Amino acid sequence: MSFNVAIDGPAGAGKSTVAKAVAKKWNLIYVDTGAMYRAMALFMMREGVNLQDEEAIAGKCREAHITIRYENGTQVVFLNEENVNALIRTEEVSHAASLVSVIPDVRRAMVELQKKLAADSDCIMDGRDIGTCVLPGAQLKIYLTASSTVRAGRRYEELTARGVSCDLNQIQADIEERDYRDMHREISPLRQAEDAILVDTSEMTQEEVISAVSRLCGKAG
Ligand code: C5P
Repeated sequence: MSFNVAIDGPAGAGKSTVAKAVAKKWNLIYVDTGAMYRAMALFMMREGVNLQDEEAIAGKCREAHITIRYENGTQVVFLNEENVNALIRTEEVSHAASLVSVIPDVRRAMVELQKKLAADSDCIMDGRDIGTCVLPGAQLKIYLTASSTVRAGRRYEELTARGVSCDLNQIQADIEERDYRDMHREISPLRQAEDAILVDTSEMTQEEVISAVSRLCGKAG
């Protein structure tokens, strides 16, 4: 049986940074499930599908074949055989991903792919519904969070450092809107699994979070 770690939490809590570092330390594969929903969102945007039209999304999603491969230890997402890693990190795609991810047919396809990846390899998987729905039997579940003010501030600094001009209040509003949608959707909303360990990173440095999660991982393995 493979060893699986589930990390869930709201946007900007630092899940991917932590998961990547812990994966390296414990020799696990890092599975970023948000990237799969982002690839699906990109497909819908390119096809000109109205993102408020659930039926249209459900109808179209069968045409998007999303696969994951690993190149030099890095996850690469393919949309109909095209590497879309560099195209899915925009604010527009973040917003679209949270709209397409409410559609049951989209979730079904993504969850199937995620379960298969976890069954085949020791992995640390991050997302919104990993502990509650995708990997209910994971040996370790973490719910990583931070206040929306802290999360928006981190995102603002990250973008500013990359030379992207942005507005802090707008970033916070976008994060809160996405949190709300992720937590209130009908199917597998974001919530802490009963057996998940809560890690609030509002007052922690990145190094502290990585070492705390690494320790938990060592104990669970
Ligand atoms: O984690 P990331 O910000 O890349 O996720 C983008 C969006 O994809 C989230 O806001 C959420 O709506 C959706 N998502 C999801 N379930 C997951 C991972 C992401 O619904 N397991």
